[in-house]
Amino acid sequence: MSSLAFSRKNNHKGLSHLDLPTQLDPMTFILFGASGDLAKRKIFPALYNLFINEKFPKTFRVIGLGRSEMSTSTFQKHVIESIKKFSRESRNDNVDIKDFLQAFSYISFDAKKSSDYISLLDTVKDLEARLGIPENRMFYLSVAPELINDISSNIKNSGLGHTKGWKRLIIEKPFGYTLDSARQLNEQLTKSFLEHEIFRIDHYLGKPMVQNLEALKFANPIIRALWNNQHVANIQITASETVGVEERAGYYDQAGAVRDMLQNHLLQLLMMTTMNLPENSTPEVIKFEKIRIMESLRLLEKEEVKSHVIRGQYLSGEIAGERVIGYRDEPGVETLSHNDTFIAARIWIDNEVWKGVPFYIRTGKRMKEKCTKIVIEFKNNGSLQLPNCMVISINPTESISLKLNMKNPFNGVIEPVKVNYYNNQQTVPEAYELLLFDALKGDSTFFAHWREVELSWQWVQTVLEAFEENKAPLYFYQSGTVGPIESNYLVEDDGFKWW
Ligand code: BG6
Repeated sequence: MSSLAFSRKNNHKGLSHLDLPTQLDPMTFILFGASGDLAKRKIFPALYNLFINEKFPKTFRVIGLGRSEMSTSTFQKHVIESIKKFSRESRNDNVDIKDFLQAFSYISFDAKKSSDYISLLDTVKDLEARLGIPENRMFYLSVAPELINDISSNIKNSGLGHTKGWKRLIIEKPFGYTLDSARQLNEQLTKSFLEHEIFRIDHYLGKPMVQNLEALKFANPIIRALWNNQHVANIQITASETVGVEERAGYYDQAGAVRDMLQNHLLQLLMMTTMNLPENSTPEVIKFEKIRIMESLRLLEKEEVKSHVIRGQYLSGEIAGERVIGYRDEPGVETLSHNDTFIAARIWIDNEVWKGVPFYIRTGKRMKEKCTKIVIEFKNNGSLQLPNCMVISINPTESISLKLNMKNPFNGVIEPVKVNYYNNQQTVPEAYELLLFDALKGDSTFFAHWREVELSWQWVQTVLEAFEENKAPLYFYQSGTVGPIESNYLVEDDGFKWW
């Protein structure tokens, strides 16, 4: 159970989710894209960690589907390799891994061929009958977006989606390319699955510190009391990366930082930071409150985009002592690409709690450091040197620090000091582990509801159109820096600076 879900039901005692015993329904896990990179890096290790921590159904089967021809034993070898390389925990006794692996099988599969779904249904039914699994089916789509329509309609038409138990669909981003295409995709999906059966993954929602945000407010009335426009001067959300486009130019040169990070991860962080929950909120209340935040987002006119959104693209430079090439020289990127690898935006939430507080969000590739953090800057009374501020670090370290002003006993000068909490536990659960566990329980708290996604696209759509119509300049920044200087002006114009 997630820490938030726990805090809701258990009076905020704050135990971590791994402490909680849970009986999970027997199920068949059907993984589309089983020979892909995400399965290898994230999904198999997450399933394994849940399994060894007894956070998995007693009876289960995993059917891996992929285009490549592969025997089940070769597939199982891939799964072992992935676990050895990427799992956060390992057990030396081979018994565990054998028990785990014997539940895995592989079918070479053409996602566009309806007859493949019919034989898949036979296999699934056969397993269910043999193992006594009451037709609970988890479909995980780790595939290219263009296959999603085919897969979801074939799940329905083949009968795979008609179960006596539950059926759930886990789907990866990108969820659409524009507002319209996201709507079309959703319409298509909802022909085969109900909204409560769709689990849209945003892995930022699985990060333990993000899941902690609400508990932080609930468990600390002092913080809760300050979390509003009377006390907060501005909030800054940063997700900077040192990596470049890597081998993903085909996707990234079309998506850019807006679609890749802002439309989903950053706006989800914004919702998680600002939603205002009553005590004992259910997942439905949480979704409702997140949606209310998105409904209060001030939409931009196309002509306003250039004053509120800064887009940038990295040039060559140096990161950690190494030379790196510019974006346009990356393999697969168009020579004169106008794609954004950096975005900073000023956002306003026009509701009672946040009216008048600017939210600055930024993300970029090939920046100075890898860092995901939320900074809450409190209002200054004018006489202090530096405002109080709370920094919630999400990645790569998890910490919370509070900046206070104290008198230096030696010279009597008021100086800023930092009060720190660091999470130095070696093995905090991975985002995918927490999210898959929730999906197995049917708890959709940390998944994106369709309306959240739609409203995020709605805000982003104007920005995309302004970019396409060149209504906002593209600024360049050297790799290894904090992005284009123009993003500083965005914050400085309001009398603040980036933390
Ligand atoms: C992914 C993006 O969703 O998030 C990547 O597609 C990005 O481009 C990644 O690198 C960042 O995730 P994290 O967890 O490393 O901050």
